[in-house]
Amino acid sequence: MDAALSFSRQHSPRFHAELEEFLRIPSVSARSEHDGDTRAAAEWLSGRMTAAGLDSRVFETPGHPVVLGEWRGAGADAPTLLIYGHYDVQPAEPLELWTSPPFEPEVRDGRIYARGSADDKGQLHMHVKALESWLAGAGRLPVNVVVVAEGEEEVGSPNLLPFVEKMADRLACDAVVISDSAMFDEGLPSLLFSLRGLAYLEVRVRTASGDLHSGAYGGAVANPAAALSRMIATLHDDHGRIAIPGFYDAVKEWDSATRDAIRALPFDEDRFRSGVGATALPGEAGYSTLERLWIRPTCEVNGLLSGYTGQGAKTVLPAEAMAKISFRLVPDQDPARVGRLLEEHLRRVTPAGVTLDITELHGGHPWRADPTGPLFEAAGRALESAFGARPVLAGEGGSIPIVGDFERVLDAPALLVGFALPGCNMHAPDEWFTVENYDRGIEALVRLYAELGDALRG
Ligand code: BES
Ligand code: MN
Ligand code: MN
Repeated sequence: MDAALSFSRQHSPRFHAELEEFLRIPSVSARSEHDGDTRAAAEWLSGRMTAAGLDSRVFETPGHPVVLGEWRGAGADAPTLLIYGHYDVQPAEPLELWTSPPFEPEVRDGRIYARGSADDKGQLHMHVKALESWLAGAGRLPVNVVVVAEGEEEVGSPNLLPFVEKMADRLACDAVVISDSAMFDEGLPSLLFSLRGLAYLEVRVRTASGDLHSGAYGGAVANPAAALSRMIATLHDDHGRIAIPGFYDAVKEWDSATRDAIRALPFDEDRFRSGVGATALPGEAGYSTLERLWIRPTCEVNGLLSGYTGQGAKTVLPAEAMAKISFRLVPDQDPARVGRLLEEHLRRVTPAGVTLDITELHGGHPWRADPTGPLFEAAGRALESAFGARPVLAGEGGSIPIVGDFERVLDAPALLVGFALPGCNMHAPDEWFTVENYDRGIEALVRLYAELGDALRG
């Protein structure tokens, strides 16, 4: 392992330069005008994995390709790790809010600013460099490895599950390792015990075949913006609970050990609140802020559109209103069922004269880990050696749709070890990742492979 660690330290300047190359490719999966760039990122990554000593190939899917890299020289007794990450990124807009352009990485105050630096190209690249450090520095890895990098995570991974199912034999593994999340705080490494799931829908209401004069028709024809607002207002009760009948049926209460562990975390509520510029942190009664973020489901309005929103006044009775509505889910909620419950509920509260149309956009299952046993213990040792602090167990309010599917299809536990920091602006302008966590994270991953090689050995 010393040879791998010293290789990674020696080659750190080159690693950083290569990361910047990766970040310059605008692999925005949601935008068809970036399809060529997204493919270029896949090819670039595959090339780097080959250079690192893996057998790597780009696999076509009906959407963006999957990059698969393999090294199976550790022998049949050694465990196999599946390393998952995504090379696609969120759109960078609004561009004018970036201090430096999103696809021209710039280091300021020890932070690498670029779209994808934290989510997830930076963290995926760390794995490639940790693998290279073993293979080039020590001539081998302590584990067999299969890397799966997808280009559609940010659009809900529509083609990954079929790929995983089709390739299940080739993807067989003892554990799935994912770095696509954040540490609980600076200098405090973290292992995730949960991710929330997601159900995302688009709701349209229509009241007329076209826009109307609000004086000539208002009072006789229903207003879609007002109707949709009233419908949305029925989604929560006065205690911050979701008021859709049946919504909580599948929600499991968490054990008191997990709730105690959450309470024991060094969470500065005031710093969190002022960090986002909020005046208060309201939410479901009876649960702390971290519990509401991690182990309770939510319903959010992500977008709302109707009528005239330009300069000045326009007396119009709009014909249509639209809302994007999503739910973060917890075990054992099912995204498809939640979508059906929303539809049934909205149909019940749709006023007369209003036509409702609902489309499911995407979804993902929630995930919960068993944080006891050799997998988490081994990861704890690797993180403690690299960061000089024992990792904490943390939950995560965001979603990585494929994680639960990996566990189910491959029958292997997932280990989520992320190195971004709170406030790193994932999905927002000025996304950043620290130089320090990039370097230390590579060291942690080099150590992690060795620890898992020992801990999971047949
Ligand atoms: N890496 C994130 C998930 C995440 C967010 C982990 C914040 C830790 C902290 C992932 O790329 C993501 O953004 N997921 C989407 C899923 C959706 C597009 C299907 C999410 O959570 O909204
Ligand atoms: Mn991500
Ligand atoms: Mn993301």
